[in-house]
Parts: sequence; structure tokens; C-alpha cells
Amino acid sequence: MPTPRTGAEAATAAVRLPDGTPIRLRPIRPDDEPRWLSLFAACSAESVYARFQYFFPWRSPGTAARFCAADGRREIAWVAEPLPEDDPGLLGVGRLVVGRLHGSAEYALLVRDDWQCRGVGGALTRRCLDVAAERGLSRVVSRTTAANGGMLALLRRYGFILSRSADGIWVEGIWSGGQERC
Ligand SMILES: CC(C)(COP(=O)(O)OP(=O)(O)OC[C@H]1O[C@@H](n2cnc3c(N)ncnc32)[C@H](O)[C@@H]1OP(=O)(O)O)[C@@H](O)C(=O)NCCC(=O)NCCS
Repeated sequence: MPTPRTGAEAATAAVRLPDGTPIRLRPIRPDDEPRWLSLFAACSAESVYARFQYFFPWRSPGTAARFCAADGRREIAWVAEPLPEDDPGLLGVGRLVVGRLHGSAEYALLVRDDWQCRGVGGALTRRCLDVAAERGLSRVVSRTTAANGGMLALLRRYGFILSRSADGIWVEGIWSGGQERC
């Protein structure tokens, strides 16, 4: 049974991007399936690869349904969508997968290519970290490559401490309720 949503988790938030564009953030829902598929169709193969770090078969049967059925307990996923509401497309999805280790979760994020570098990723990250804090999650881990300048900038901004793998290819960011960089 899904955990009841409270505080930041319950809220559907209207926020403004740095350029003033209004967007809305809300938890993902099962009826987002067609919008989730459209989001992936609007992303380059490079972006999808960067999100999953392999050739993720997003078109395969059942995948969209599974990813839109985040239970709000083990998987917490928030979407961004444009306002006004007559455009029902998704701009991006941020997802926390709660781990077996008490108080920890993994975080990953995808923003539609034509909306990248406008602050959507930052808005989703802030919201997901607020939800993590509300849930009492004290450690959020996010992994990307050293070449992913956008994600690294975003992780730094939201207080993740970054460390590189020995081969220099991978970067792991760890958030422990850290302070945002202004
Ligand atoms: C990484 C990603 C999520 C960032 O989302 P976004 O909406 O573009 O992020 P924002 O607009 O909020 O910008 C984030 C920061 O990255 C910076 N940035 C963007 N592209 C950059 C680049 N190529 N190099 C360096 N910095 C970059 C922005 O200036 C911003 O910095 P700031 O917070 O200091 O102002 C998005 O590019 C994406 O979906 N990429 C494909 C999937 C992916 O890589 N996911 C991450 C692994 S899970």
C-alpha cells in the first residue's frame, strides 16, 4: 500500500524557471504512461543512455507502466510539466529508489532535450531532496560520468559531495542533507 503523502510529498508545486517560465512539479501517476513514452521519444539516445548508463529499452512492453507506477514508498518519482495545463507533456522525471540500507536512496534524473539547461533538472532535484529529507532519508547517492557537466553542476549545487572512480570515468555524488551552493 502506498505510503500516505504529507508535506512536500503531498504538494503539487507551481514553480518558475530562472527565465520566468512557470512549470508544475507533481508525483508521477499511473496515467502518465503515454506522457512518459512521449518524454522518452523527445529525448536523444545520448540523454537516455546518460540517464540509465545503458541502452535502456524504454519502448519494451510494460516498461512505461512500471516506471509510472512508483509506489511512493520504495520508489519516489516526481515529474515536471509545463503550465498552462493545456500542454500535458512531461518535461522531465526525477526518481529516488530507496535502498535496503536504512535511510538511503539512489537518485536519477532525465530532462527532455529541448528543455535542458533551463532549470527543470534543478527544480526536480530540489523537490526530490525535500521529499527525501521529509522521509528521513539521510543519504542520497547519484552516479554519472565525469563527462556529464550538466549533472555534475547540478549535484554540486544541491550539496552532493562528489568523488571520482579510480579510472576517472565515473563520479559518485553523495548527499547527506547537505547545504546548497548559491
Ligand atoms: C543532466 C540533466 C538532468 C540536467 O538537467 P537540466 O534541466 O539541463 O539542468 P539545469 O538547467 O537545472 O542546470 C543544471 C546545471 O548544469 C549546468 N550545465 C548544463 N549543461 C552543462 C554542461 N554541458 N556543462 C557544464 N554545466 C552545464 C547549468 O548551467 C546548471 O548549472 P547551475 O546549477 O550552476 O546554474 C539533463 O541534462 C539530462 O536530462 N541529461 C540526460 C540524462 C542525464 O544525464 N541524467 C543524469 C544522470 S542520472
